[in-house]
Amino acid sequence: MFHSLLQLSCLALLGLSASAARYPSFGTLQITKSSGVLNVVINNTYSSINLFDLHVQSDLGKPHRNLASQRHRQSPLPSLNPGNPNMAFPISLLWNITQLPQATIAVIEGRARGIGNEFLMSCDMRFATASPSVLLGQFEPSFGLNPGAGGAMYLSQLIGRGRTFEYVLASKDIDAVTAERYGWINKAFRTSAELKKYVHALAARIALFPAAGIAGTKAGINAVSRPAMDVIIQDAQNIIGALAATQSVQDFEKKFIAATNNQSIGELELNTGRDLETLFT
Ligand SMILES: *[C@@H]1O[C@H](CO)[C@@H](O)[C@H](O)[C@H]1NC(C)=O
Ligand SMILES: *[C@@H]1O[C@H](CO)[C@@H](O)[C@H](O)[C@H]1NC(C)=O
Ligand SMILES: *[C@@H]1O[C@H](CO)[C@@H](O)[C@H](O)[C@H]1NC(C)=O
Repeated sequence: MFHSLLQLSCLALLGLSASAARYPSFGTLQITKSSGVLNVVINNTYSSINLFDLHVQSDLGKPHRNLASQRHRQSPLPSLNPGNPNMAFPISLLWNITQLPQATIAVIEGRARGIGNEFLMSCDMRFATASPSVLLGQFEPSFGLNPGAGGAMYLSQLIGRGRTFEYVLASKDIDAVTAERYGWINKAFRTSAELKKYVHALAARIALFPAAGIAGTKAGINAVSRPAMDVIIQDAQNIIGALAATQSVQDFEKKFIAATNNQSIGELELNTGRDLETLFT
């Protein structure tokens, strides 16, 4: 399972082997393994807020590639075609996480916005503490952008069309209790101990069952409730690519970086959803 602190953490099941170093290693993942469950804590010391940045993305490219190359990856159902070279790295990474034959569970104990929340939605399940420190959101529209890695599309599968428009177009944060009620996350727990106890038991139970049934079930669920790869690619390339190049978006990015003191701990970074409007006055 992936476990997240400030801007994140998730991944489940099976072993790590010594990995071929195709991407540079930054040591942002703390990985332990027990009885068929791989526990990955995202602890990005390159960022004071544990951002889901290039360091984490590079490191995540490895354990999940190892998972994907395990035995039993053959699904009894046809799967979508992976590995489209048109996909940008983070989009390909998140897509590949959805393709894993193993179950993936995200554990959330902090903020996860933008690609952080897209990463959570690329996992099969999401669990959080019902704490004020948990806030989720896709706030790209406040920058003049769309969520580039399928965020709005995944979300509309989870919480429906109307609520997706409400939260994403308004770039609002959602708290864990409301997120549970809407289906954005599976469940919110009163305490971190209850959260961990539940998720560990769930992962251990799934790990008891034959891998082929897990992979086959995932392929079927993906086929009916995951956005199509070509739609994600089109959305990423044709929309965010063009928008991100505009002067107004670049100016707003600069403004946001300055106002958050380069994305470090502070009111705007912690409460982006609440305080965003101050950037427009
Ligand atoms: C993250 O890593 C740093 C540096 O190794 C360590 O001091 C800190 O305790 C870690 N945080 C968590 C929550 O594991
Ligand atoms: C902003 O923070 C990042 C680490 O998150 C660092 O790599 C970068 O150099 C910083 N930029 C400025 C302008 O301080
Ligand atoms: C995702 O998987 C495809 C197919 O195995 C591979 O070509 C691609 O490099 C992977 N993407 C990343 C970011 O690891």
